[in-house]
Amino acid sequence: MKNNNRILKYCIILVLSIVSVACGQTNTNQKADMYEASELSAMMREMVIFSKEAKATLAAGDTIHEVPKHFYDLATQTATRGEHLEGAFLAMVPAYIQALKGIERRDSQQYYYDASILACKSCHGVYCGGPLDVINQL
Ligand code: HEC
Repeated sequence: MKNNNRILKYCIILVLSIVSVACGQTNTNQKADMYEASELSAMMREMVIFSKEAKATLAAGDTIHEVPKHFYDLATQTATRGEHLEGAFLAMVPAYIQALKGIERRDSQQYYYDASILACKSCHGVYCGGPLDVINQL
């Protein structure tokens, strides 16, 4: 089981490295430092891993015990193309934060998990559509 989880994580990381290339295509200057993820990218990758684990936890009928605290700092992470400074980006952060808080309160974790994925989708509908394939599996 542990081994399987590790393999799963490697797969996710592999998929993500492909995705980040897709995301960087709009800006050719980004190619040079393709391997250096922005603060926001790095957090997004952790969010994918957290969401996958959370989904598996709920599917097994278990409780999600914690949400990584640093996810609450989403709004202040520097993005590759300055998205973090844009009003549209900032306006969509609270939906995700509220969903995380709901998961932590343990009201209905399934409801708030679903809300968290909806928040990913709405922001990615505007910014960086590349990861939508990954998000749609969450
Ligand atoms: C408020 C807007 C917003 C929300 C909410 C959001 N994202 Fe993102 N995401 C972005 C932006 C902007 C980028 C591009 C970051 C960059 O290039 O610096 C990004 C990048 C990514 C990437 C690519 C990371 C990489 O390797 O470069 C993935 C994967 C991703 N997001 C998944 C998710 C998932 C999963 C969720 C929900 C759990 C989510 N995002 C929620 C805005 C958002």
